[in-house]
Amino acid sequence: MRVLQGLARLVASVSSCRIISRQSLVSLRCTQRFFASYTSPAMAQKVKLSDGSEIPVIGLGTWQAPPGEVEEAVKTAIDVGYRHFDCAFLYDNEKEIGRAIRAKIAEGKVKREDLFITSKLWNTHHRPEVVVAACKKSLQNFGLDYLDLYLLHWPVAFKEGDDFFPYDSKGNFITEDIDYVDTYLAMEECVRQKLTRSIGVSNFNSQQILRVLEKATIKPVMNQVECHPYLNQKKLTKFCKEHGLQVTAYSPLGAPNAKFAPKGVPKLMEDQRLVAVGKKYGKSLAQVVLRYLIQIGVIVIPKSTNAERLKQNMNIFDFKLSDEDMKYIDSLDCNGRTCPFTECEHDKNFPFGIEY
Ligand code: A2P
Repeated sequence: MRVLQGLARLVASVSSCRIISRQSLVSLRCTQRFFASYTSPAMAQKVKLSDGSEIPVIGLGTWQAPPGEVEEAVKTAIDVGYRHFDCAFLYDNEKEIGRAIRAKIAEGKVKREDLFITSKLWNTHHRPEVVVAACKKSLQNFGLDYLDLYLLHWPVAFKEGDDFFPYDSKGNFITEDIDYVDTYLAMEECVRQKLTRSIGVSNFNSQQILRVLEKATIKPVMNQVECHPYLNQKKLTKFCKEHGLQVTAYSPLGAPNAKFAPKGVPKLMEDQRLVAVGKKYGKSLAQVVLRYLIQIGVIVIPKSTNAERLKQNMNIFDFKLSDEDMKYIDSLDCNGRTCPFTECEHDKNFPFGIEY
C-alpha cells in the first residue's frame, strides 16, 4: 500500500512540475494500475486490458509442451490455480489442451468464464480470406466456442500451404507480400463473429504497432514478445502501455530448451547471480525471474509440464524484490534474444531490425 501511495505521490508531483510528457504520465498511470492489480489480494493476479477484459498476470505457456504430456499438465495447472493458458495453432497441441480444459469444466472444477485462453494465427494463414477459417480451426481443435485472445503470431507472412516452415534452398523462410495490417483487419472479423473476445499482436515492433493502430477499428490489446532479464524490453513495454497495449513475456525463463537459440547467448537459467538474489528471499532462480517480470509490469507465461515446477512458478505472490534487487536485475539486460527469427531477416516486415 505504501508503495502505491508513493507511486501516486510520484505521479502527482511529476504532473504538477510539468517536466514529464503526457505520454510518460500515461505510462506511469498504466504502471500504477498494473501494480495495484497484483498487490491487492482481492484482485490478485489480474490485469485489465484496454477493452475491459481481465487477464491473469501468470499463465501457462504451452510452446514445446508435447501432446503426450500437455493434457496432464493443463489438468494439474488448473488444480493448482492457473486460469490463463497461452496456446497457438503452431504448437500442435490445441486438441490435448482443449480436452484437459473440457474435462476440468465437466468435473465442475472451473467454468469456461473463469479461464483466459489465447491462441495465435500462424504465418501461413495471413491472407485475409483465410483468417476467420484459421480461427475457427483453432476453436475446433480446442472444442470451445470462443477464445479470450487471438494474436497475430508474427508480422511476417509465410508462403501459404501445409508446410508451416517453408524454407528456400538458402535456409531462409519463403515469405509472401501480405501486409500484416490487412491480416489484422481480417482478425477484427473474428471479434465481430464472437470467435474471440479480444485481439492483439505478437513479435511486433513499435512502428508496426503504430501502423496497425492507424487502421484498426478494434484496437489490439496485447503485444506478446520475448522478455526476460537478458532482454527486458523496457522501451517496447513503455511504448505499448502508452498506446493501450499490455505486454506478455514469452520465454520468460529464457527458453532453456529452445533448439534454435543462437550460439553464444548466455543461459539465463544457469545465472548464479540470480541464484544469489533468490537465496535472500528463499526463492528459486525461476521464481526471482518471474517476480522481476511481474514487477516491471509484464504478464508471464512460463512453460512447464512438471507438476512441482508448475506449482513453484505460481508461488511468486508472497514476496517482493527490493528496488535495489530490481535495479541489479535490470543491469543484466544484454539483448540476449533466444528467438531472433533470422530466417526472415530478408523480409521487409522482419520485426527485430530496429531498436524496439
Ligand atoms: P519443464 O517443462 O520440464 O518444467 P520458457 O517458459 O522460458 O520457455 O521455459 C520453459 C522451460 O523451462 C522448460 O524447459 C521447463 O521445463 C523449464 N522450467 C519451467 N519452470 C521451471 C522452473 N521453475 N525451474 C527450472 N526449469 C523450469
